[in-house]
Amino acid sequence: MKTRITELFGIQHPIIQGGMHYVGFAEMAAAVSNAGGLGIITGLTQKSAADLANEIARCKDMTDKPFGVNLTFLPVVNQPDYQGMVKAIIEGGVKVVETAGNNPQSVLPYLKDAGIKVIHKCTSVRHSLKAQAIGCDAVSVDGFECGGHPGEDDVPNFILLPRAADELEIPFVASGGMADGRSLVAALSLGAEGMNMGTRFIATKEAPVHDNVKQALVAASELDTRLVMRPLRNTERVMTNKAVERLLEKERTLGRDIKFEDIAPEVAGVVPRFLQDGEWAVGPWRCGMVAGLIHDIPTCKELIDRSMAEAEGIIRQRLAGLIS
Ligand SMILES: Cc1cc2nc3c(=O)[nH]c(=O)nc-3n(C[C@H](O)[C@H](O)[C@H](O)COP(=O)(O)O)c2cc1C
Repeated sequence: MKTRITELFGIQHPIIQGGMHYVGFAEMAAAVSNAGGLGIITGLTQKSAADLANEIARCKDMTDKPFGVNLTFLPVVNQPDYQGMVKAIIEGGVKVVETAGNNPQSVLPYLKDAGIKVIHKCTSVRHSLKAQAIGCDAVSVDGFECGGHPGEDDVPNFILLPRAADELEIPFVASGGMADGRSLVAALSLGAEGMNMGTRFIATKEAPVHDNVKQALVAASELDTRLVMRPLRNTERVMTNKAVERLLEKERTLGRDIKFEDIAPEVAGVVPRFLQDGEWAVGPWRCGMVAGLIHDIPTCKELIDRSMAEAEGIIRQRLAGLIS
């Protein structure tokens, strides 16, 4: 399948694996890229620019296909070494960067000068237009269904994607709730040029996370996510468990006066304990409503190949058949 996204990134299939903290290691990115999609290493999971350079080199040892690096810009006091990471990306010969979070304007000139394509992930049409205006090559439009940060507007993809299509000139992919060939065809018909998957890629053989995480995704339904940190306007969609329900109760009790420090003990340091050590119910870990569509743990190649076959089947048979 050829779309503006496959052309832009030089990939076979219009399927991207979004950056995921403590999931987007070289093994994950290489598996997706080797299967014809675009795999993405998560920059901030690496403790330093030197570690990121090493991770990029490891990925290059595992694939000769294009892959990307995610740079998430966080509203934190002690900023990570973004300049060092950008240098590692450029010197490592990476061809694509997925930016997310705050405006990536400060690093764009360096990336563009090095010929790197930039796809910015955002949760609203206004942020997508801003990304277009500052020179991003594409956007990843993340609907309310998505795992991780859905923003504060709560607009699901059935509305957000056609709104983005009406306004944007640069290509965009649909992100949030994407699982298979049906998702891809729906995304294309709503104006996207491909799809970005997060949660679905965690339940694959190559995903470098504890098996408990994969089993939890297979067991979960679309009703099993919760939105935490809403009162702080830093909403995250996470898998529910007892610790998450306790956190939500604390948020309700503290009400409007809540500060991040109040809930820091419940959220800080949780991600590696679950994703890497498999400690169930230790706290909130990011997960999309798409968990309800995850029933197995295929390889990345099986997942991508069957999604493409399903998408082509829907377009050639079901949809074409409806009008002939
Ligand atoms: C476990 C997990 C960790 C994530 N970490 C990040 C991150 O560090 N940076 C980022 O830009 N997006 C992150 N995301 C968001 C994904 O890149 C992607 O946009 C999102 O998962 C899409 O929604 P889906 O889960 O319904 O596919 C994360 C998502 C998950 C599930």
